[in-house]
Amino acid sequence: MAGRFQAPKGTFDVLPDESARRARIHTAAAELFARAGYGRIETPVFEDTELFERGVGASTDIVSKEMFTFEDLGGRSITLRPEATASICRAYVEHGMHKLPQPVKVWWWGPAFRYEAPQAGRFRQFNQIDVEAIGSDSPLVDAEQVIMLDELLRGLGIEGIRLRLSSLGTAESRAEYREELKSYLRAHESELSKEVRGRIDANPMRAFDADDDGTRAVMAQAPRMLDRLAEADAEHFAEVRRHLDGAGVEYELDGTLVRGLDYYTRTVFEFESDRLGAQSALGGGGRYDGLVAELGGPEAPGCGWAAGIERILLALPADGDEPGADVFVVAEDGQRGRALALAVELRRAGIAAGLDLANRSVKGQMKQANRTGAGLAVILEQDGGAQVRDMESGDQRSVDPGKLSEEIT
Ligand code: HAM
Repeated sequence: MAGRFQAPKGTFDVLPDESARRARIHTAAAELFARAGYGRIETPVFEDTELFERGVGASTDIVSKEMFTFEDLGGRSITLRPEATASICRAYVEHGMHKLPQPVKVWWWGPAFRYEAPQAGRFRQFNQIDVEAIGSDSPLVDAEQVIMLDELLRGLGIEGIRLRLSSLGTAESRAEYREELKSYLRAHESELSKEVRGRIDANPMRAFDADDDGTRAVMAQAPRMLDRLAEADAEHFAEVRRHLDGAGVEYELDGTLVRGLDYYTRTVFEFESDRLGAQSALGGGGRYDGLVAELGGPEAPGCGWAAGIERILLALPADGDEPGADVFVVAEDGQRGRALALAVELRRAGIAAGLDLANRSVKGQMKQANRTGAGLAVILEQDGGAQVRDMESGDQRSVDPGKLSEEIT
């Protein structure tokens, strides 16, 4: 009976064939973060719903229409995390991490959940890699983190990368700007899409993200927060830029960059790749100087980013050969037990060793050895002898069966 059950809409299985590429991203990231002094943090897959309402913002698309929210058996409202930042700030407050040397620098990797319309690069369960530094407002933090994401993406071989950079100022200066933008939008109300019109009051800045022609034409002339920064914010941003220039990281200033989460202040950024389709964002983030206090903690400015693993995978160039076995043990009749014992011994010595588990003929086993990409095949002969064959050159020689693992290791 074919295909009775399928993975739920917007989700996917990771099959062994694909997992090596994921592991490669994980290893590259873990090494990069360790070198930069970021420690690993893990948080629960679900949290109290209110954490995201307060943290990400009730008027955002994420909170207002994309959360997987349910009541647990104890009557609590629970939400599968749509992102990691709010959870990490919650953990920072809960564990009194403001008493540690600041900033606290952490990285995170795991699934996140958003009820979005699935398409290429957009899923309902997807994976993010995330870094956060909490407890410093230094522009060095912003720059360090942008440089890290740039290095991660380039180190993985992703091409066609574009970095958009902007500043949203502080909550106070933005409040003034929002009023200006609202008046501008109202003056052009008839040219805007219904959706944008409907959220002029709740979230006017999201109008920059609209993709209908009418709104886009209006937004091309709209006032930009980037031109309205208070002096301290402008100086902070200039310093971030100086550090990025110093590191040779190229970016485009883009005053239309608004991120889909409410907590941002000052620096915001997004990396895109032209190798991706409509969902072109590889990752993004920025500064959130008010979030920890908003969640009931001390005044602790923070900065971070998240990148989508599935987006990175889409943009990644095709892989070379996957690592297979180093050695394949071929068993003639009656030698299968010996083959297992030798494979186990080699594996203990740190060698990737394969053997036939499907009762293949010797010829079939040689084919299998080829398929796994093994450099060497060991043939265990019926009479107790052994041969070692170089799979590349085809050279084959007898070896003393008692010295096999010594010969190979
Ligand atoms: P975000 O821009 O919402 O930011 O998500 C970051 C990245 O996650 C996106 O650039 C994209 O690559 C990936 N992503 C988002 N939604 C999906 C989806 N439905 N399917 C596949 N990939 C997706 C945040 O989440 C912030 N927490 C980033 C941050 C950390 N800001 C400060 N610290």
